[in-house]
Amino acid sequence: MAKVKTTFFCQNCGSQYSKWQGQCTSCKVWNTIAEEVIQKPEKSNWKPSADTTKRASKPLKINEIDTTQEDRLNMYDAEFNRVLGGGMVKGSLTLLGGEPGIGKSTLLLQIALKLSYKTLYVSGEESQKQIKMRAERINPNDNNCYILTETKTQNIFKQIESLKPDIVVIDSIQTLHSDYIESSAGSISQIKECTTELIKFAKETSTPVLLIGHITKDGHIAGPKILEHMVDTVLQFEGDRNHVFRILRAHKNRFGSTNELGIYEMQGSGLREVTNPSEILISEKDGELSGNAIAATLEGLRPLMIEVQALVSSAVYGTPQRSATGFNAKRLNMLLAVLEKRAGFRLGAKDVFLNITGGITVDDPAIDLAVVASILSSNEDVALPSNYCFAAEVGLSGEIRPVQRVEQRILEAEKLGFSTIFVSKYNKIALKNTGIKIQLISKIEDLVGFVV
Ligand code: TYD
Ligand code: MG
Repeated sequence: MAKVKTTFFCQNCGSQYSKWQGQCTSCKVWNTIAEEVIQKPEKSNWKPSADTTKRASKPLKINEIDTTQEDRLNMYDAEFNRVLGGGMVKGSLTLLGGEPGIGKSTLLLQIALKLSYKTLYVSGEESQKQIKMRAERINPNDNNCYILTETKTQNIFKQIESLKPDIVVIDSIQTLHSDYIESSAGSISQIKECTTELIKFAKETSTPVLLIGHITKDGHIAGPKILEHMVDTVLQFEGDRNHVFRILRAHKNRFGSTNELGIYEMQGSGLREVTNPSEILISEKDGELSGNAIAATLEGLRPLMIEVQALVSSAVYGTPQRSATGFNAKRLNMLLAVLEKRAGFRLGAKDVFLNITGGITVDDPAIDLAVVASILSSNEDVALPSNYCFAAEVGLSGEIRPVQRVEQRILEAEKLGFSTIFVSKYNKIALKNTGIKIQLISKIEDLVGFVV
């Protein structure tokens, strides 16, 4: 009998070792190296047809390459299309990661049900009945979606050959296993092998494949890092489970920008595309409340008006607390220091709590000015007029710094009915005759005069 071939893999980063050791040399984590049985496949699983091998590629000049035929499939979901860069590229592999229960299966099933193309939804996690129940909540209409509950890649390919779907969805890559590898489903070598088989299939038949991937507790996609290198696009579905909003971002995209953002709202009947996010991110309220300020931010190319809430109160204990949700806590401390030093506010003995509403995390620096305004407003207990909004970065010496694409932010604020927008004096603004007042400020002290 042939000797069983085994190798050791780090379950954290996927590095390979010939013998066991306590600590992984590459990611420095202890006790993650485990033995996995591997067996080299004698023959490749997805056999290329005779004519594809004959038509071996030859070098072409870049302007000789034909790009006239449409290579993207419309997914009939504006948010999803935008994040992908204008639809799904044929023959591409897309990986969708996210926390358990965030709605990955719901999103892809919903898209599969909407499409008029023949779609195969392969699930290794739920039974056909469970998927049917979910589908009835989402979209009970007639459609062209086939459900297969199977985890063995060889069987999946057999079904694909007879069904010939236009799109394949796999839920999830961690449940698949290939006969050519002996280790259990979800192990590093299985994930690698199954993905390789799927890539071969996708490239040779020009069928796009969507994979769902689990993530580890520190937020990375479970399995080897190489998985992210192998696929063409890595999408992340995120959001706060206690909030209804879900955000779809591209972490890697070989066919488009990674700046784009898709927003969904989780409802009883599936995910709803949110086409005008600014309107929901700003909460409805009667009267003006102190500590609230609106920031005109930009995510990718998309303007987002976001509400910032601050609460400043006297510290009960010796050490004041500073806590921020949806905003970098270090940056909050820095802004507090700037307010203390440059504008003379004594915040050293105050508790400061900051919250970005809607469970969204923002990294656009233009939110700084709204954060400062909300802190001032709460500290003085004076409400800001609800038709003010802010878009500027705050520097260490208290200077108000310009932000990119300020005109787009101004136009969005105007469209939503704001009366005044505060921006940096150093921003070059070519807009004329706007219906909104553009208040230029250069120092943090200038802001103090306006808001308190
Ligand atoms: P699911 O897609 O199963 O998450 P994942 O595949 O990422 O683990 O989503 C499960 C959650 O979505 C569940 O908590 C219930 C909620 N949900 C709705 O609120 N409305 C719906 O129509 C559906 C189908 C799910
Ligand atoms: Mg799921």
